[in-house]
Amino acid sequence: MHRFRFAGGIALIAASAVGCGMATASRTPDLTVRAEPTMIKFVDPAQVDGLITRTVTRRDAGDRYVHIAFPDVRTAPALTKKLEQEARRRLDDFVTSTKPDSPEPRPELNMDWQLTAATHGVTGVRLRTGEFHGANWTNSRRTLWYDHTTDQAFGSTGLLDGESALQTLAGVVQRKLQERKLDVDISAVVADPDVFDSMAFNPRGELVVEFDDYQVGPGSLGRVAVAVPPLQTEALLSEAGRRARTAVLAARPVPSKTLPVKPPRTPAARSSAAGDVDCAKAKCIALTFDDGPGPATGELLDVLAESKARATFFTVGSSAAAAPELLRRMSEEGHLVGNHSWAHHDLSKLSNSKIADSLGRTQQTISAATGQTPTLARPPYGAWSKDLALTSQDMGMALVNWDIDTLDRNGGDPKAVAELAIKGARPGAIVLMHDSSRTSVAATPIILERLTAEGYTFVTVPELYGSAGMTPGRLYSSGPKVIGKRPLT
Ligand code: NI
Repeated sequence: MHRFRFAGGIALIAASAVGCGMATASRTPDLTVRAEPTMIKFVDPAQVDGLITRTVTRRDAGDRYVHIAFPDVRTAPALTKKLEQEARRRLDDFVTSTKPDSPEPRPELNMDWQLTAATHGVTGVRLRTGEFHGANWTNSRRTLWYDHTTDQAFGSTGLLDGESALQTLAGVVQRKLQERKLDVDISAVVADPDVFDSMAFNPRGELVVEFDDYQVGPGSLGRVAVAVPPLQTEALLSEAGRRARTAVLAARPVPSKTLPVKPPRTPAARSSAAGDVDCAKAKCIALTFDDGPGPATGELLDVLAESKARATFFTVGSSAAAAPELLRRMSEEGHLVGNHSWAHHDLSKLSNSKIADSLGRTQQTISAATGQTPTLARPPYGAWSKDLALTSQDMGMALVNWDIDTLDRNGGDPKAVAELAIKGARPGAIVLMHDSSRTSVAATPIILERLTAEGYTFVTVPELYGSAGMTPGRLYSSGPKVIGKRPLT
């Protein structure tokens, strides 16, 4: 059962139906989310005990641009299993339909999540999937539910009392869409569980039915959604549906006013353990861990602590928001927490405003958890653009890529991963690893032992540059000892 663990938590905005990095390269804004009734009520994931973000990869995914995240809900294993099945289905479809080494702009698959309910009785998770195939993003949504009293996970139509209820609801939704005079194809609004696969509740307890892009109309409509009032759904909800609605209404609202318009100023991030090593003289190397925090991050922190090694963590904002205690631990134990965007989209495809939104929300999440403002960002996929450089400059962050890739992202043999780091090691190197990957975590003790024996000190990235420091907006791939004093761009 869930326990609230953070009184303050990290505020998420209820309006994040449009935010959370649900990037769209389309020029058409997501109009419907501004309409109050279709705004779904979301729960702050930091308030749910035992919740951590998981990612899925495939060994043969190669260098495809894929980031798939979903919550591992410890108290609802059947739900976690169903979420993972959905994540793997999307990944398999994408790998089958794309080629590695695709030309720019690369095809991309991105899945992130939000909680539509999290109480002792009911948990709901909304998965948002974006696919990019050369022109625009196509976004889809799917909401899965879990009833703790029956220990069952089900799709959105499980909220309804059978086939006839779905038929009736389809009729209601058709009429509501017709009233709005949108360019919607009403004949596509059929009583099919695949069409009605994303349903949740708004703060008034109205049932919000939402469709995927292109599902019931042209892509220019973006997210099409309708809210059906309780009077019209009263006879349609199943027992589980009623419990879900009760859970949503009873949940503490996400206090949007605690998300300050101007976040309090926190000092620039620096390692609490740095300052005793001069990398101009010592053999320094910087291990960097991306895409977390995840289920193996705590174990990795234990491993690093045992060897008194410092590292830099480039965290994904939406995952960090669910596990702020891990970020706090990183910071307290002398590691540096950097920004790896909100939901791991390729930022080089995005406009200035979307880049600023993705990095800015992550900055807020990290500084709320650690009390320090990140000064480093790593572009997802290492993909750089001029807009990204300018935006990160404005936000006071240097961009950090790597010069040793341990190829750990899609799993594999920890020994092979460790070998790549050890063979490539040289003073000033920046090593790419992933704390989202158990392989990487298993490889770390081997790397620490071997390179310590070779006289290396494990430092955070800025320590490589010493008093010269790092310049916001510039892209770095290795320390000055390796490439001289000149940054790459
Ligand atoms: Ni990454």
